[in-house]
Amino acid sequence: MKLALGSDHGGFNLKEKIKEYLDEKGITYEDMGTYNSESADYPDFAKKVAEAVAKGEYERGILICGTGIGIGIAANKVPGIRAALCHDTFSARYAREHNNANILTMGERVIGPGLAIEIVDTWLKAEFSGGRHERRVNKITEIEKEYSI
Ligand code: RB5
Repeated sequence: MKLALGSDHGGFNLKEKIKEYLDEKGITYEDMGTYNSESADYPDFAKKVAEAVAKGEYERGILICGTGIGIGIAANKVPGIRAALCHDTFSARYAREHNNANILTMGERVIGPGLAIEIVDTWLKAEFSGGRHERRVNKITEIEKEYSI
């Protein structure tokens, strides 16, 4: 699995922790920034990661900001992206099984690194269940198409 990672300054430290975890597990990723704790705008990194995932260059993405909210809102503007904010493992599992979430977002200021890594682990292992959930996810895509120019 190839992952794309991104954060603003508010998520930079947690992104570094997640990279350590991915390195330990031998999971391939590209870090699309930000690369330090200086103030940066989360939509810039949301766009980079979301576009790369939507184009199929990476299977999934992980985005982190202070709350996980702004970076997820921005990522969800890119057609084909289903970014899910998860701060517990139950949500992380069902974001994959029911929603086929292709981007996970988290907030460094909300949860600690231990829980964040368990969430990443759960989300990476879980797969989309399909069936009735596929029909529902397809309806999300239909809404997206209706509003695209
Ligand atoms: C940056 O201060 C902060 O607003 C950002 O990281 C994020 O929490 C926005 O949703």
